[in-house]
Amino acid sequence: MDILKTTADVRRYRKENAQESIALVPTMGALHNGHLALMRLAITRADKVMVSIFVNPTQFGPNEDFDKYPRTHSEDLSKCKATGIDAVFLPDVEVMYPDGQEHLTQVTPPDILTDQLCGASRPGHFNGVATVVLKLLNLVQPDMAVFGEKDAQQLAILKKMVQDLNVPVDIIAHPTVREPDGLAMSSRNQYLQNPQERQAALALSGILNWIRDQVQLAGGALPQQEVLPLAAQRLQDLSKNQSQPITLEYLNAVHQDTLTPVEQLDQNTKVLIAAQVGDVRLIDNLDL
Ligand code: PAJ
Repeated sequence: MDILKTTADVRRYRKENAQESIALVPTMGALHNGHLALMRLAITRADKVMVSIFVNPTQFGPNEDFDKYPRTHSEDLSKCKATGIDAVFLPDVEVMYPDGQEHLTQVTPPDILTDQLCGASRPGHFNGVATVVLKLLNLVQPDMAVFGEKDAQQLAILKKMVQDLNVPVDIIAHPTVREPDGLAMSSRNQYLQNPQERQAALALSGILNWIRDQVQLAGGALPQQEVLPLAAQRLQDLSKNQSQPITLEYLNAVHQDTLTPVEQLDQNTKVLIAAQVGDVRLIDNLDL
């Protein structure tokens, strides 16, 4: 497995493999089975698979967890190797932002996609994500790039960027990978410090499944007003019964493809949730 540190390393790798199709799997490391599933899918699609591991500072807000975001490079490299990855791009911040992080040319995704959901509480986050992903795509020039549906808003924004800016890459989506009890895998699950927090975190997938069940019981469609306020109340009741508080940030229903808010929940709906469990911000979503 090649370990690439500089932009010149990546350019050289691309040139040496000019005849091969390349899939890129961008990550911030602290790799878990969700990331590995993306890699395995990439391996079935391309001749060579490159993983990037970069905790991108420009997508973190001033009060977010950039400094304490888990960094586990040697374990990550072992996992990539064991999965059969061909190359890992592991740049330092200076390699990605040689002129510093201010006064950068940036990708600004459309407000309609960034104003709501996670974008509402994380101003600038998706500019940071879109910009770093475009930089990676321009550097690596992969034929395809794989992203997880776990980050549904991110995926929608990146698909839109690729379409609007004519980026020559296929975006491949992988379904959310979950723990056996339903918790969506996330590098931030490492922050869940005790069994109570871990148990409380299950409320996110639990509420999403409950909403899906209500819609099915109602014959496949329900006005969102009839189910989302009840679901939020259930979450609050659940939180009261647990030693670990859960604070709901949002619980929204949108159209699966466009992410525009919908009045009726049906088979075209995606329900997304963000909540704080103790100090840990978690997100999840489900297609009904
Ligand atoms: P990160 O959170 O490390 O996630 C890397 C990729 O793994 C993303 O496409 C994400 O959606 C996917 N992923 C994470 N958990 C998953 C799960 N449980 N099931 C399926 N896929 C999952 O997302 C980022 O990094 C960054 O924003 C990045 C795109 C790398 C830009 O910096």
